[in-house]
Amino acid sequence: MHFCSRNMSSIGTKPQMRLPIFQRTVLLTLVMISSFYICLFCLNQKGFRINLNVTTIEVGDEAYKYPIIPTAELPHLHYPKPTTYTRNECACNPVRYFAIISMQRSGSGWFETLLNSHINISSNGEIFLVKERRRNVSTIMETLDKVYNLDWYSSASKNECTGAVGFKWMLNQGLMENHEDTVEYFKRKGVSSIFLFRRNLLRRLVSLLANSHDRDAKQLNGTHKAHVHSRHEAEVLARFKPLIDVESLIPDIKQTRKWSTDILQYFKGTRHIVLYYEDLVRNQAKMMDVLDFLRMPHAKLTSRHVKIHTRPLSDHIQNWDVVSQALKGTKYESFLHSDYQRK
Ligand SMILES: *[C@@H]1O[C@H](CO)[C@@H](O)[C@H](O)[C@H]1NC(C)=O
Ligand SMILES: *[C@@H]1O[C@H](CO)[C@@H](O)[C@H](O)[C@H]1NC(C)=O
Ligand SMILES: *[C@@H]1O[C@H](CO)[C@@H](O)[C@H](O)[C@H]1NC(C)=O
Ligand SMILES: *[C@@H]1O[C@H](CO)[C@@H](O)[C@H](O)[C@H]1NC(C)=O
Repeated sequence: MHFCSRNMSSIGTKPQMRLPIFQRTVLLTLVMISSFYICLFCLNQKGFRINLNVTTIEVGDEAYKYPIIPTAELPHLHYPKPTTYTRNECACNPVRYFAIISMQRSGSGWFETLLNSHINISSNGEIFLVKERRRNVSTIMETLDKVYNLDWYSSASKNECTGAVGFKWMLNQGLMENHEDTVEYFKRKGVSSIFLFRRNLLRRLVSLLANSHDRDAKQLNGTHKAHVHSRHEAEVLARFKPLIDVESLIPDIKQTRKWSTDILQYFKGTRHIVLYYEDLVRNQAKMMDVLDFLRMPHAKLTSRHVKIHTRPLSDHIQNWDVVSQALKGTKYESFLHSDYQRK
């Protein structure tokens, strides 16, 4: 079935003159409908499933209901045709494209499992962890095309009723180097960017160092785990207290800050939302803002991830005295204190 393609505006390219008024009205109506990219095929079906405003249009004796899609939304609606399966009854459900743009140890693993617990959302993980895929601009674009055409296979792949598809892209996975082409691609294809950053960069550093330690130490029965699913496993991993290099501490924090401000600057022209891990931890209801941003119906989102470092930072850093001394009186002093509890 190809009824959902956007080529329907061709209906209006050769207006025929001298048509009776009634037929002209019908033609005009069709043009209006096509300009809204409405899928005619759907009109004969069970009706629309997208959650937008609905209006009624009358053609002759028949009344059809169809959603009003704000014009600004149109570039963000897609009707992909995967090469290996058909979208069947969901062929007329529009699909939205997104990318979660983040940095390691900023809560994006947790965030992604929350999104993937939604029946219509499919986020395919760190696809650019594999170096071949980010070798050059062409391999990056090919990979993106495959993901957005719903041809990517991962544990997160959903069925034909996927309504939003994306993946997680870390700044150091070819994104900073290829930002110009990527922004151009995002604008051309209507990809929405979800930025996820961490405010407390000292906590992020503790998490980075602890994770890097476990890569060698393999503290959980000889396997390395970047994320854990039980309080017990979290406690085992949190026993390790990293030693922080105070010489490079402030330059590292500054550099991390700069990456996030630079990327926001590059992507400011794309449709985007900026989120902070701490805000989501404090108030998980904020996840509904993300569903609204993706125009997906609200649903309860769940994750099995358990937070590893939950205590005050003084309990998690070996050389706490030196570290707190180094940050006191700087604009990063608040990193020493800000603590939070997950609800
Ligand atoms: C739907 O349309 C009505 C009437 O035009 C309007 O009052 C309402 O705000 C619209 N709702 C949304 C979600 O756009
Ligand atoms: C990109 O890399 C691929 C695979 O390594 C190679 O075949 C291709 O020629 C490269 N393209 C460009 C434009 O450099
Ligand atoms: C979500 O998925 C369900 C079941 O697979 C489907 O019926 C529904 O139309 C989808 N909704 C959206 C907004 O894609
Ligand atoms: C290690 O394995 C034992 C036995 O298989 C299990 O009971 C225990 O929970 C595991 N410990 C961790 C930290 O995963």
